[in-house]
Amino acid sequence: MGDVLLEVKGLHVHFVNKNNRIPAIEGVDFKIREGETLGIVGESGCGKSITSMSILKLLPPEAEIVDGDIYFKGSDLTELSKRQLTKIRGNAISMIFQEPMTSLNPVYTIGNQISEALRYHYGLSKKQSKKRVIEMLKLVGIPAPEKRFYEYPHELSGGMRQRIMIAMALICNPDLLIADEPTTALDVTIQAQILELMKSLKNDFNTSIIMISHDLGVIAEMTDNVLVMYGGMVVENCDVKTLFENPLHPYTKGLLNSLPKVDERKEELNTIDGAVPSLSKMPAGCKFWPRCPYAMEICKTTRPDMFEKDNHKVRCFLYDDRTKGEM
Ligand SMILES: Nc1ncnc2c1ncn2[C@@H]1O[C@H](COP(=O)(O)OP(=O)(O)OP(=O)(O)O)[C@@H](O)[C@H]1O
Ligand SMILES: [Mg+2]
Repeated sequence: MGDVLLEVKGLHVHFVNKNNRIPAIEGVDFKIREGETLGIVGESGCGKSITSMSILKLLPPEAEIVDGDIYFKGSDLTELSKRQLTKIRGNAISMIFQEPMTSLNPVYTIGNQISEALRYHYGLSKKQSKKRVIEMLKLVGIPAPEKRFYEYPHELSGGMRQRIMIAMALICNPDLLIADEPTTALDVTIQAQILELMKSLKNDFNTSIIMISHDLGVIAEMTDNVLVMYGGMVVENCDVKTLFENPLHPYTKGLLNSLPKVDERKEELNTIDGAVPSLSKMPAGCKFWPRCPYAMEICKTTRPDMFEKDNHKVRCFLYDDRTKGEM
């Protein structure tokens, strides 16, 4: 794999309203290399979307990046002006959002929306950009692209809209594609087709991808390295094979346990007891301790550091030489 393309260091994001501020992301670090696919996994509310939205500052208005650096090809994105970021958005870095309908504009035709980026970033003429857009629509598997070019988002099915989003994200040949649950809303067959499409684009263009999903099957199939998030923090980070063969964090083990096994015909899946706490009710110490079968006294009061061995990082006292004997 190539050089480091993006590095996020010590990212902290707060939600701020009139009387208080609530931490949502607390010290997230990760790197992604050229051509690498990085998975981000975790239950709903763990901070996957807020982390990825921070990269391009596409956060909800009440969210604020309070600390951290985001280096992309050597420059710190957190320091860039709105204008400078607009040049990167959709061009060097593009994003596919969780809800395709909210990011497509209902009043413009498909063709108009996709060509806009080309005209803005590359100054192509109407005719030139139309040609490129039709090629791209073909590439993402849209039948009759010449006709679709003149249609509006509501005239398309969910699967077709998601393909449009992908076409829009890829039209300027980005270095980094951030895909937030790109297939969750789609049925299984279309989901498989879209994932195949993303794989072939990665192979053809060496695009780096951040693939956000709560679906471990998608993570296993698509990614090289994985971040497991819980309560706005990274709790485990390693390559995908190690994650599935030797998960360390009790949370990761719980997630893997809830996967259906091919050889077992169980009525019910195992799930992790309890639920992700809301941001204002995060426990002291390790955020996972109330749900953790291995919780020790120290876990209730002290936040664990990230421990690292052989490129495998885990935020858990079970792996701290000073405390692991307490078990
Ligand atoms: N606009 C907002 N105002 C206040 N809190 C928010 C807002 N958006 C998200 N949050 C909170 O921030 C936390 C992280 O949310 P985020 O959307 O990043 O989760 P996620 O991991 O992407 O979940 P999902 O799998 O459901 O998409 C959650 O506790 C969520 O409730
Ligand atoms: Mg999300």
